Parts: sequence; structure tokens; C-alpha cells
Amino acid sequence: MDAIRGLMEFIDAAPTAFHAAQLAASALEGAGYQKLEEQKTWAIAPGGRYYVTRNRSSVIAFRIPKRGFAPFQISASHGDSPCFKLKPNPEKASQGLAQLNVEKYGGMLMSTWLDRPLSVAGRLIVAGEKGLETRLVNVDRDLAVIPNLPIHFNRSANDGVAFNAQADMLPVIGAEGADVMAAVAEAAGVGKDSVVGSDLFLYNRDRAALVGAEGEFICAPRLDDLACAYTSLRALLDAKPSNHIDVYCLFDNEEVGSGSKQGAGSTLLIEALRRVALALDAKPQALEAALAASFLVSADNAHAAHPNHPEKYDEQNRVRMNGGVVVKSNAAQKYTSDGLSAAVFEGICKRACVPTQRFANRSDIPGGSTLGNIALSHASMNAVDIGLAQLAMHSARETMGARDVEHMIHALTAFHESEIRIMGDGNLEF
Ligand code: CO
Repeated sequence: MDAIRGLMEFIDAAPTAFHAAQLAASALEGAGYQKLEEQKTWAIAPGGRYYVTRNRSSVIAFRIPKRGFAPFQISASHGDSPCFKLKPNPEKASQGLAQLNVEKYGGMLMSTWLDRPLSVAGRLIVAGEKGLETRLVNVDRDLAVIPNLPIHFNRSANDGVAFNAQADMLPVIGAEGADVMAAVAEAAGVGKDSVVGSDLFLYNRDRAALVGAEGEFICAPRLDDLACAYTSLRALLDAKPSNHIDVYCLFDNEEVGSGSKQGAGSTLLIEALRRVALALDAKPQALEAALAASFLVSADNAHAAHPNHPEKYDEQNRVRMNGGVVVKSNAAQKYTSDGLSAAVFEGICKRACVPTQRFANRSDIPGGSTLGNIALSHASMNAVDIGLAQLAMHSARETMGARDVEHMIHALTAFHESEIRIMGDGNLEF
């Protein structure tokens, strides 16, 4: 229950990827992880624990074993979720009302954002005496709503509506003249005139809740992928010291293709690993040898079979909520799992008494992608794609199994505590 409550509080406190990264960083600090800065030379000692952030929206944490440099066992998840982002010049007026000019961030189910209290959060760039400062901000009160068109003006609405993000999704924030940037600046405790830049997002004000006859489901915004971001962090902090380097990655921008300087497609991870090797005085080729003996778990939520539409899922590879950790496979390699990596991960779960289940898409439905294979383009190593089964992915509010929170924490704790020894030619021990 403690882990379930912990996830729900994490979600409520993380309206944006910036806030998720900040929560992860403060949990790491609380557990004795030392902050490193990319702009400085890193001093790293055997037995030490460290973390680094980029853009304040992605985090890499690592724990060095007493024996020094060693292969890596890495978990990776993402802290961003589909939402709407404020455009420059966000305020506009229509019919005596003030609205916000927003655009889509990621591929959400747009209709789910209608007719519910929303607010604004993200970061502000503030001009100070000497330069620019970044401040995270959350207005943290019901501020906006995107109103539906009444059924009377769209009699076929229940047969399906095509939404146009430019025309249909602009929230109302008050009477004409209402000043969103003033509200945001006030929430950040800065003068409006000192705000010289911003990255601001709409978020759903719903709090995470337990739902079901026995409270067996968590119904919450941003379960994809804060469920994995939180459980993988807990696993790193819970795991006993090991003989390899344990690494935690929380990436921003997965929902828009991971292509930013802080996304999984960037050099963030490989540069961190290289700097760890250099700072520990690893020999030439030691990094390459370590990467070849390393293992990455890409943790991003999976599609539970929908009871109203079981036909959308592959008959042999349907997964259910509270059924354990999902191992995902895809012939086109959208998922990194292969026969070997799936066998290793399932073997670790079995030893830890954590149930697992297999997911594959229908052959005639392409499905989604995630960050695992993108991260591997810079840091190539054995990898598996896993997740927790959830309904309504990319809705403003999603549903997953409450018992799966512990399943994932136990699975990833066991992963960090296992010593995976990769010997080449597809032979290994764990
Ligand atoms: Co995801």
C-alpha cells in the first residue's frame, strides 16, 4: 500500500516532466546521491552514488560498486506525458472570454481533455540581476477548461467527432482580459515583467484515485510513464549494493520522438557513461567492453486488453492489469526485447516470484513505439522492453492495476541485485 500511495503522490506532484525530474532528484539526494553538473569535471569514487540532470527535465543516476568501473545495469523510463503546450503569445479573446493558444504535445486522445478543470505548469525563465534563472512553476488551482460543443449543434457527436487542435482545443481561462502570465508569475513568486521565457503546459487537475470493487485499480493522469518512472526509482533506491554500475534514466520528450538534447535520442546517456569510465580511470577499451556486457531495461507502460474491444489485441499475447510485469516484443524492433533478453528478464522475475506476461501487437495494427530502441542507437547493449498493463493509454486519465506497482518494484529491484554476466556468443549467467 505504501508503494501504491507513493506512486499516487508522485503523480499528483508531477504535472510536467520538469516536476517529475525534480521529484526524482530530491528522492536521490535524500538517499545520499550527490549531484554532478555536466558543465564541470566529474570526480567519482568507487562506492559512490551520483546523479546528473539535463534541461532540468531528464535525470541520470548511477551507483558505483566498491570495486570501481564495471558493466552497467540500466533502467530507463520517461517523465513526459501527452498534453497541450502553450504557444508564444498564448492569450487570445473570443466572445468576451479569454482563451489560451495551445498546441498538441504528443498524441493524446483529445476528447478526454474536454470539460474538466485544467491548470498550467512548467518552467519560467526569469531575468535576474546577473542573468537568467530557471524556476519551476505550478499554478496549482483550477484555472482553465476546454468546453465541448453542445450535442444540439452536433447531433452526430456520439457517432464520433473529428477534433482540430487549432480550432477545438483552446481552453477558456476567464473573462476577456484575464492574464494567464500574471497568474503564472504570481504562482512562481516573481514579477510578470521579469519573465523572459517559458515552457508551459496544460495539465489535468484530477488527482490519482483507487477505483474498483476492492480498489484494485489506480485511475490517474500520466500513468504512462510516471508509473515506471516512480517504480524504477524505488527499485534503484531499494536494491542492495551490487558489483555492477546500477543506472537510472528518466528521459523527457519520449512522447514527441525523443529527439531533443535531453531525450533518449540524445547523447545524454552515453556521455554520462563515458564520463563515469573516465572519472574512474578505466583503461582504454574498458567502456566498450563494459557496454558489450551491459543490460538495459526500457520500462514504459503496455496496453491491457480492453474488455469492450478484445478484438484489437493479439489473441495469444493479451495482457491484463494486476497480471504482473509485461515483456513486449515486436519483429520490427520497435521494442528492444529479443529471445535472449526476454529470457534473462523473465528468469530474474521468476526467481523474485514476480509474475510476468507477454505482449505483442496484432500483425495488422502497428502499435506504438518507445524510447528503448532510440536510446540504443547511442549506447548499444542487450535490452528488453517491459511495462505495466494499463487501459486508455494517452487519455487525460488512465487506469492500471494497483498490485502491479509492487510487481514492478520487486522485478526491478531483483534486476539491480542480479549480476548479469554477458560472455559473448549469446552466452550469459545471471
Ligand atoms: Co510511454
